[in-house]
Amino acid sequence: MSEVKILPNLVWKYNYEPGFDVQAFLDYQSKEAELHQTEADGGKSTAGHPNPPHEWECNRDFMMWLRPKIEICLREWDVQYTDIVATGSWTNIHNINAHTLPHDHGSTNVVVSAYVQVPEDSGNLMFEQLMRTNWTHYSRIPENTIHDYWKEVNVQTNDVVLFPGWMTHKTQASRSTGDRITFTINTDGRDRNNIIL
Ligand SMILES: [Fe+2]
Repeated sequence: MSEVKILPNLVWKYNYEPGFDVQAFLDYQSKEAELHQTEADGGKSTAGHPNPPHEWECNRDFMMWLRPKIEICLREWDVQYTDIVATGSWTNIHNINAHTLPHDHGSTNVVVSAYVQVPEDSGNLMFEQLMRTNWTHYSRIPENTIHDYWKEVNVQTNDVVLFPGWMTHKTQASRSTGDRITFTINTDGRDRNNIIL
């Protein structure tokens, strides 16, 4: 017997052992973080603000560590590329009750969600169950709900999750009074033969 895989893998989770400069994120958030359309009940984001975290000197080693992980995604999804670009990055901060509403990242090829600081009970990452409607006629064992709308991914400090930009996701509401800090990067594989203007 062998299991036959007909779909590509969609989500990877790594651990960035060296960890992140938490104070650098807190300093930046104290100046740039604001309420945002995806952040609910007190969550704040620096999305769209200048000096994005992927360009910071303190994240240089992380970006070098990250690059081959992005390539694994692009190869798994048969993306034609010669170069990898970061099209933007930001950091979110959640305190008690804050959460991120369901959203996707549009045309982004690979989303990178890095967990700079995750206090206990500050909420996990949730992905929409892509094939939910295909299974609704089967009598399945209920877990959270019988309709199985979301798949929960446990996240801890220094975890790094990569997934395609079209996958709808959200976070659970934080039950912690500590600051939950995330660092998200949008990346694309680009074929330089196709970008001559
Ligand atoms: Fe997101």
